Amino acid sequence: MVTMAATSITFEVVIILWIASSLILGTGAQGTSPPAPDYGNDYGSYAPLSSNSSANLFEEFYDYSCPNATTIVKDMVTTFLAEDPSLAGSLQRLHFHDCWVNGCDGSILLASTSSFSAERDGLSNFKIRGIVEIDEIKAALEDQCPLVVSCADILALVAREATYMAGGPWWNVSLGRRDGLVSRATDADSNLPTPVSNWTELAVNFAGKGFTAREMVILNGAHTIGRAHCMTVTPQLYNYTGIDDMTNPALNVTFADELKQKCPKGNTLDTVSMDSTKNQFDELFYQDLLEGKGVLQSDLEMMNDPLGLQVVTESSQAGSTFFDEFAAAMVKMGMIEVLSGAQGEVRRHCQYINQ
Ligand SMILES: *[C@@H]1O[C@H](CO)[C@@H](O)[C@H](O)[C@H]1NC(C)=O
Ligand SMILES: *[C@@H]1O[C@H](CO)[C@@H](O)[C@H](O)[C@H]1NC(C)=O
Ligand SMILES: *[C@@H]1O[C@H](CO)[C@@H](O)[C@H](O)[C@H]1NC(C)=O
Ligand SMILES: *[C@@H]1O[C@H](CO)[C@@H](O)[C@H](O)[C@H]1NC(C)=O
Ligand SMILES: *[C@@H]1O[C@H](CO)[C@@H](O)[C@H](O)[C@H]1NC(C)=O
Ligand SMILES: *[C@@H]1O[C@H](CO)[C@@H](O)[C@H](O)[C@H]1NC(C)=O
Repeated sequence: MVTMAATSITFEVVIILWIASSLILGTGAQGTSPPAPDYGNDYGSYAPLSSNSSANLFEEFYDYSCPNATTIVKDMVTTFLAEDPSLAGSLQRLHFHDCWVNGCDGSILLASTSSFSAERDGLSNFKIRGIVEIDEIKAALEDQCPLVVSCADILALVAREATYMAGGPWWNVSLGRRDGLVSRATDADSNLPTPVSNWTELAVNFAGKGFTAREMVILNGAHTIGRAHCMTVTPQLYNYTGIDDMTNPALNVTFADELKQKCPKGNTLDTVSMDSTKNQFDELFYQDLLEGKGVLQSDLEMMNDPLGLQVVTESSQAGSTFFDEFAAAMVKMGMIEVLSGAQGEVRRHCQYINQ
């Protein structure tokens, strides 16, 4: 999902976030609810998961209260992707970026207000896409069953549908998440991994959310679909590890030249396909990596460790366990710090807390 992570600069890379280290401390915007816990000033020092509410979620949650919910989501995602297949990466990434920042609570969708700057306006969510589509789905659901289906659940269902429709695996989605009341840009920028993070930083980040290094490499496989903005690509082309005019030596030389043509120095807004089969969910992302073709520095970092290299090599083979492992990791991700029962609320409109 580092890959998952997805804009002027719209980037649709599911996992990738661009974090300026100066933003990490985030003394700025405040949410409307209690102050956030102190996560410290690096991505690794994230607090351990405080509770496990996954037992309160189940697939049949809306069977009586909104029996058509799953079908409505599926049909609408089908329509959106028929119009624009590149949305698959964006929609998958929304769920990742939601879950990674104070749990899967739909807070990625909240709009900034005069009193706080929301997650989606953090640099790591620059030019985020898919919020309009989620609004349309929510409106259709409100039409049938008002105030029943949470925005957090919509994101979880949409990510599954988008992945599956792009050719990826299927997984069952447990439901019953509630929507959160807090959203802060600073939390997004301090929690999400960045495109220039190294293996150690990424592994620490994922461990902080309860994921093994192996699961990290698998989730990064989300980058088999989606696009990256040049803003996230150019550091490894022209300023590798902060050194002027240095190119990442791990990059395939031919591929580096291609990337430089697509992303000239200073270009931020153009986009590059994350792998050689852009909107198709397959093992090609890993095959590309083995040839040194990693659009993001953080992608190539997946091979900068013996275990990482092993998982990349295994996953590059057709018929590997990549799809099954990806599905399992997505299920796990969808359970991060969820709100359930009477916690939070079910929003009427995904961009606004209920009045
Ligand atoms: C969370 O709860 C689920 C369902 O009861 C269980 O399968 C899982 O092992 C639990 N996870 C942790 C980390 O306790
Ligand atoms: C579900 O959809 C069917 C037809 O698409 C419709 O007849 C039915 O009323 C819907 N159910 C609810 C609870 O809205
Ligand atoms: C999803 O749930 C159905 C019904 O319980 C089950 O038959 C199916 O195997 C599950 N699919 C996956 C991928 O777990
Ligand atoms: C990874 O980044 C961390 C923090 O910036 C740094 O301390 C460490 O030396 C880096 N690791 C490698 C192998 O470059
Ligand atoms: C290159 O990276 C260094 C260190 O992160 C930064 O100070 C500098 O501004 C960067 N240069 C360019 C051209 O982006
Ligand atoms: C670099 O990419 C070229 C062109 O796709 C390919 O032929 C070559 O094998 C790659 N080099 C390495 C070291 O994988």
